[in-house]
Amino acid sequence: MVSEFMLQQTPVARVLPVFLAWMQRWPTPADLAADSPGEAVRSWGRLGYPRRALRLHACATELTLRYDGAVPEQVEQLLELPGIGDYTARAIAAFAFGRRTPVVDTNVRRVLNRVVRGNTDAGPATAADRVLMESLLPAEPSVAARVSAAVMELGALVCTATNPDCPSCPLVDGCAWVAAGRPASEIRRTTQAWAGTDRQVRGRIMAVLRESTEPVPAAMIELVWDVPEQRERCLASLVADRLAVVLPDGTYALPG
Ligand code: ADE
Repeated sequence: MVSEFMLQQTPVARVLPVFLAWMQRWPTPADLAADSPGEAVRSWGRLGYPRRALRLHACATELTLRYDGAVPEQVEQLLELPGIGDYTARAIAAFAFGRRTPVVDTNVRRVLNRVVRGNTDAGPATAADRVLMESLLPAEPSVAARVSAAVMELGALVCTATNPDCPSCPLVDGCAWVAAGRPASEIRRTTQAWAGTDRQVRGRIMAVLRESTEPVPAAMIELVWDVPEQRERCLASLVADRLAVVLPDGTYALPG
């Protein structure tokens, strides 16, 4: 559950060190629930989208209250927990509990689209991909779970969006996209603008709060960004998201 929350929007290589430190500090849901949401946000570090840390903390609290600190094994139960959508529920059921359930992320969608349909790109998420993936899973749950992990890794490491390594692909002989002559991608890849965005400003403010063990005066936050209107908007949005709190003396801190 911890790794899947972290991997929702962050690549494996960046997640790994944060994940290892996290599991050392909070080996069980009860350990995390006993600490403050602010400590979860602090340990989230620079993974980005820190609301995930709050949701993971909320999950740990629910697990402790409702499931005696265990993680439920069924997709329907997992879906009721905070921050768990269809993908994450199925990933946990398959990868943690060895269940037979299709797990479809963008990597899996690209593999299916290429191997089965002969299309180049992953395409939007649709129910059809889950139905197709389900039809390809072997009957035995533990084997199906390994296939789910294997297809995802194939998409992440071999059948990549750009420069796929077809010669080392175990599916190359039956691949519809290879048979069609590997038609070029229709997607024009642009790096997502980051400099100057509210995300960057929010990240800088969160870094100040994370790195301080004491509440931070507004004057210190003013130093991170010199466009007052944008800075105030970002600070207000962090408070609205409960990633930061304003204390009675007007200083700022991570949530207690
Ligand atoms: N490999 C790449 N992304 C993954 C994820 N989200 N879960 C498990 N294995 C992965």
